[in-house]
Amino acid sequence: MRKPIIAGNWKMYKTLSESVDFVRELAPRLASYTGVERVVCPTFVALAAVADALKNTDIRVGAQNLHWEAQGAYTSQIAPTMLQGLAEYVIIGHSECRAYLHETDEDINRKVKAALAYGLKPILAVGESLAQNEAGETQTFVGGQVRAALSGIESDNMQNIIIAYEPIWAIGTGKNASGEVANAIIGGTIRSTLAQLYGNEIAQSVRIQYGGSVKPSNMLEYMSQPDIDGALVGGASLKVDDFVQLVESAAKAKGL
Ligand code: PGA
Repeated sequence: MRKPIIAGNWKMYKTLSESVDFVRELAPRLASYTGVERVVCPTFVALAAVADALKNTDIRVGAQNLHWEAQGAYTSQIAPTMLQGLAEYVIIGHSECRAYLHETDEDINRKVKAALAYGLKPILAVGESLAQNEAGETQTFVGGQVRAALSGIESDNMQNIIIAYEPIWAIGTGKNASGEVANAIIGGTIRSTLAQLYGNEIAQSVRIQYGGSVKPSNMLEYMSQPDIDGALVGGASLKVDDFVQLVESAAKAKGL
């Protein structure tokens, strides 16, 4: 069975002390949900302190991005070597990084390779824009993003990669894809792309999240879908009560 995974993407929210206070309150409330993998992705400056605050818990830490080089003259960037020991996961290809930082499919592919090479687990985000969605291009576009990001990645790495399907039009907008629609893209488009690349067994074993305006009131709808293995959550991961409810719903829907 694919273990559900809920990751909170804090984006550019929470200072160092707010991040630490948050996880100190969150961790005990999530302690019993061991059937669900629980991940927080703070900003880079809070990573070390959050990792330290969580060190005696089974809550995992993720970074929000990385550079593909091990070191170098890349002002402002963070190398995979710098994340080692602090983060287990790293979000790669978030639509905000694709849009505002102009990350290309090629950059994202390099980042996925670099993360894996340094023992970090990518949470690879893909998803179509509203215009692409309305033009009926979702399947081709999302399938293409998955192929491009995974180009040259061997099948034995796939157990260490999480994919997050996040339709751009649903991120932070309050509009969300229905559970059925999200499941169709995840189970249909993304898993069939993985099956073409790596065979059906691997396609069925990779964990795929939904993301985009996930909140306590719609979490059960997503998690009740057979192909959705968790969520990548922005806004609702910033409040302890909401985060706990998301994990609770995931455990309930998956019978854990
Ligand atoms: P949201 O963000 O839950 O606030 O829509 C999701 C994401 O960007 O990962």
